[in-house]
Amino acid sequence: MSLWDVEAPFYRMIRHFPGLRRVLAVEHQGLRTLLSELKLHGHVVLDVGCGDGESLRLIETPCARVGVDRSRWFAARTRRLTRAMTVVADSAALPCRSTSIDLVLCIGLLEYSRHLSATLAELVRVTRPGGHLLLTCSPAGLMTMARRLPGHAMTPMTGETLIARCEPFGLHVCAQQRLRSQHQVLLRKQ
Ligand SMILES: C[S@@+](CC[C@H](N)C(=O)[O-])C[C@H]1O[C@@H](n2cnc3c(N)ncnc32)[C@H](O)[C@@H]1O
Repeated sequence: MSLWDVEAPFYRMIRHFPGLRRVLAVEHQGLRTLLSELKLHGHVVLDVGCGDGESLRLIETPCARVGVDRSRWFAARTRRLTRAMTVVADSAALPCRSTSIDLVLCIGLLEYSRHLSATLAELVRVTRPGGHLLLTCSPAGLMTMARRLPGHAMTPMTGETLIARCEPFGLHVCAQQRLRSQHQVLLRKQ
């Protein structure tokens, strides 16, 4: 059982604290702006580290949604709230066929990842050529420090560092948002 499983039942309540709600609203607006660059009608979207499906709910276009989370609790909650198909799995070993996904979301996970290279390799592996990846990371700062309070080990990272880590995979940077609490990068697989 991971710390996320312990935190899961309180997750919604924590995210409804007024200050945090405002931060999340800004982050979601940034994600919506990046998503608006994409034509997703009829496409397959995979959300890795789907939590309770908040990122999947930002997509209004009809498409096939799949959520992956290591926590059984979160996977079940995403299924209930979004009607997406969900799978319990680790981001470093995705149970998806190679090049089968049009858009991979990985929002609010990479900073917690102990196997960043393996996770990035998996995200790229499942994305089809010409498909997109929308990734986020947390720059150093108060918000990032606060996220350590429940006991999570996390590594602050800027968008530039994340892009550099993606370089070996030959991804093209389409657009990015540099928010105070989160850097968001939209990439295309060549
Ligand atoms: C901060 S939450 C983000 C949730 C969601 N993406 C969002 O933006 O609302 C991180 C999520 O990633 C999941 N997670 C953490 N490490 C993971 C891993 N190695 N593989 C799969 N899921 C993981 C946690 O269980 C949790 O649901």
